[in-house]
Amino acid sequence: MPTVFVNIPGAPYDVHVERGLLERVASRVRDLTGAKRLAVVTDANVRPLHLPLVRRSCEAAGVEMIDVTIPAGEGHKTLATVQTIYDQLLDARIDRNTPVAALGGGVVGDVAGFAAATVLRGVPLVQVPTTLLAMVDASVGGKTGVNHARGKNLIGAFHQPRAVFVDPQVLTTLPPHELRNGLAECIKHDLIRNEAGFARLERDIDRALSIDIEYLAELIAHNVAIKARVVEADPLEQGERAHLNFGHTFAHAIEIVSDFAVTHGKAVALGMVAASHVSMRLGMIAPTDDRRITSLIARAGFPTHSLNLPIDPLLDVMRHDKKARSDCPRFVLLERLGHAVVREDVPQELVRDAFEALH
Ligand SMILES: NC(=O)c1ccc[n+]([C@@H]2O[C@H](COP(=O)([O-])OP(=O)(O)OC[C@H]3O[C@@H](n4cnc5c(N)ncnc54)[C@H](O)[C@@H]3O)[C@@H](O)[C@H]2O)c1
Ligand SMILES: [Zn+2]
Repeated sequence: MPTVFVNIPGAPYDVHVERGLLERVASRVRDLTGAKRLAVVTDANVRPLHLPLVRRSCEAAGVEMIDVTIPAGEGHKTLATVQTIYDQLLDARIDRNTPVAALGGGVVGDVAGFAAATVLRGVPLVQVPTTLLAMVDASVGGKTGVNHARGKNLIGAFHQPRAVFVDPQVLTTLPPHELRNGLAECIKHDLIRNEAGFARLERDIDRALSIDIEYLAELIAHNVAIKARVVEADPLEQGERAHLNFGHTFAHAIEIVSDFAVTHGKAVALGMVAASHVSMRLGMIAPTDDRRITSLIARAGFPTHSLNLPIDPLLDVMRHDKKARSDCPRFVLLERLGHAVVREDVPQELVRDAFEALH
């Protein structure tokens, strides 16, 4: 079964993708860290579905499980939730060597990761992602954190996990729209880094949608490898890691202007359609490539038009993006399929046209 090595200087780790891994996760953490106790943070949705297997794995491995549950959903990705995690960890008298396992989607990964980064000035973290998005994106790269009233992900820390344990079997309980959110990031990865992967996804996306676990295991390993190579080259997000924002500058504006009524997956899907459109208009990708991209995004179950948002506010948000260095927003575009490039010189008219094409 595939293991992907993530070579972060000073903090390297493996991402294990194995069917049935949840049943053995505690012994794997014990072998890795030597710890006899394990704090498992999960959310109220994942708890009844997947905590029982983890609990049994602890019993089998002779590891004491500290059970920490938080409410589910992006609305609980807050410092208040982190505070409740601190309380439970400290009440259980954890020490510097007690690992925290984040069992859940990207919200649990980010919140529990931030708690692990900060409690006692940092304890070991293992990620046990249970959504496709968390498996291929959020659990790799070491970004942890919470939202603030002023915006998403504004409070946080880099804290690389000691390992990531992916059991693709848990995806059988994932609601279809959550699976699609992960697929949007998979499409993104291939668009910025791997043309052959894009062609394979065109051929096999229906296997992902029908939860073919064997295929999903391959797809996850492929995507983790792409994300790993990007974050290895730029662990602290000072340069090339920006490529992971492909489609996300547009998506961010759509999320804000819709007041988050458009979900992240949908916004990224529309954002990738827009970014691909701009890439085509700048003569970097061919119209046939642009059509392939839009059609794969549609097959993944996303709308690629009918966006009912006013364009001027969208353009305004883009001008004030926190990642913009000057007034001109930085766009991640496609030089060609499988190759991203950052451009700061995109004419405003083209951006407007791209939003219009989404209507
Ligand atoms: N740290 C990073 O680098 C990074 C990268 C991308 C996204 N993120 C963050 O990730 C978050 C989004 O992650 P997400 O999409 O996984 O959302 P999520 O964690 O909210 O999970 C989505 C929903 O699925 C439920 N769920 C999780 N696993 C399940 C399973 N196996 N079966 C049934 N239900 C399950 C959850 O309870 C939740 O209701 C955002 O907060 C985003 O900012 C972080
Ligand atoms: Zn995203």
